[in-house]
Amino acid sequence: KNITILISGSGTNLQRLIDCIVTGEIRNTKINKVIADRECFGLERAKKHQIPNQLITRGKDFSDNLEKAIPDNTDLIVLAGFLSILKSEFCEKWNSRMINIHPSLLPKFGGKGMWGHHVHNAVIEAGEKESGASVHFVTTGIDEGEIILQGKFDIDEKDTAETLAEKVHQVEYEIFPKAIDLILNR
Ligand code: GRF
Repeated sequence: KNITILISGSGTNLQRLIDCIVTGEIRNTKINKVIADRECFGLERAKKHQIPNQLITRGKDFSDNLEKAIPDNTDLIVLAGFLSILKSEFCEKWNSRMINIHPSLLPKFGGKGMWGHHVHNAVIEAGEKESGASVHFVTTGIDEGEIILQGKFDIDEKDTAETLAEKVHQVEYEIFPKAIDLILNR
């Protein structure tokens, strides 16, 4: 099966997926392309592993260019820290074949503006007892699609947005490869 991974950031989840394909934790899968919407370290990771990659900057023709950039043989699109909002036509076309990872226990702390440290600050301000990450199908509603897998941990009094971000990442490294293997090899 072929997956196309979309990123905007450092790409530690991308790295984890690359590694899990090597170890066989994700079975029968190839990353056919990595696409970024901005210059980011994740693109360097793709280059280092000789994975075809493309930078598509945001602007007038962003959606069309993105659409054209998805290889014909893609089975699943994986959003791994991708910060652009996708057009609804694109989401509908890839309905049930596109997934995202989100750094909270959805449906809590999802939606517009809920990314990165904004999520972790909101979690702390709300006095939540636990946090975690969710892998879900992408639909036209932001962070609203069916949840595939979640992982969680207890929040400690001493936790800050930074420590939560680190703990959430550790959860993501567990559930993201599992979810992809589940979807592609069920
Ligand atoms: C992850 O926390 C993910 O949930 C969010 O963006 C972050 C990406 O981190 N959507 P990285 O680039 O994989 O390190």
